[in-house]
Amino acid sequence: MADQPNGPVMVIAQLSDTHINDDAPEAAVRLRAAVAHLLHLPAVPDIVLLTGDCAEHGTASEYAQLRELLRPLTVPVYVILGNHDDRPRLRALFGAQGEQTMPEFMQYTVAAGPLRLLALDTHVPGQDGGTLCPARLQWLEERLTEQPERPTIILMHHPPFRCGLAPFDAIGLDAIAEFGAVLARHPQVTRVLAGHLHMAMQRPLHSALAVTCPSTLHQLLADVRRPAGLEVRFDPPAVLLHTWSDDTGLLTHTSPIGEPGPVVVMHDGQQWQAPPWPVRG
Ligand SMILES: [Fe+2]
Repeated sequence: MADQPNGPVMVIAQLSDTHINDDAPEAAVRLRAAVAHLLHLPAVPDIVLLTGDCAEHGTASEYAQLRELLRPLTVPVYVILGNHDDRPRLRALFGAQGEQTMPEFMQYTVAAGPLRLLALDTHVPGQDGGTLCPARLQWLEERLTEQPERPTIILMHHPPFRCGLAPFDAIGLDAIAEFGAVLARHPQVTRVLAGHLHMAMQRPLHSALAVTCPSTLHQLLADVRRPAGLEVRFDPPAVLLHTWSDDTGLLTHTSPIGEPGPVVVMHDGQQWQAPPWPVRG
């Protein structure tokens, strides 16, 4: 965390749906670009999250590729399972992440400065849809009851809402109501960070904002007037940046991955600068 006049600022970057694929090198190329993007942000993140579908087939070789591609990140990286992933193999690669882990599921907590992260496992082996069984929901309830005052971010691959596009809703979370009932009792949850849709969507969910992160691979912009199918335009991939300060609380930015422009000084801390703006560095 960097100290600023308004207190420390924490930057949490979210990547999703990297789909590293033994049979398609494009996914690795895209993730390499995403990692380079993170390393060249004006404020380098303190923590990086990967919200599932890390690998297309969940093979050991895909996860080995993933590890190599993430290696340039020198900050802590936390991953969760998506429907494409393999629980034993992903666990073997990343080990027991965080604290308060469950023996059967990849659920864990992370103390992140003033924030708390709760990672959930919505994976069902052999299925594209996700679930939160009573054991996983009970773990969530217990963790949330422990620290009711601490701003909390929940991570889960399957979004806890219907998106209205039938093909995705057919492979959505089957415990939306049960998850919502837990959330309703714990207003300290400020964000629910998901993936799965390869689309950036936000909606309020009790006291939280539920967001889905774009994919680093195929980012979809769907024709919402034809919700029975999935007619999409491929848009530029992007990452989400969740920034916290005591002054502002949690803010979420979308940062498209592409050719970045220079870092210019539009305001020098005293006043706005007129164009052409000075280039920093
Ligand atoms: Fe995906």
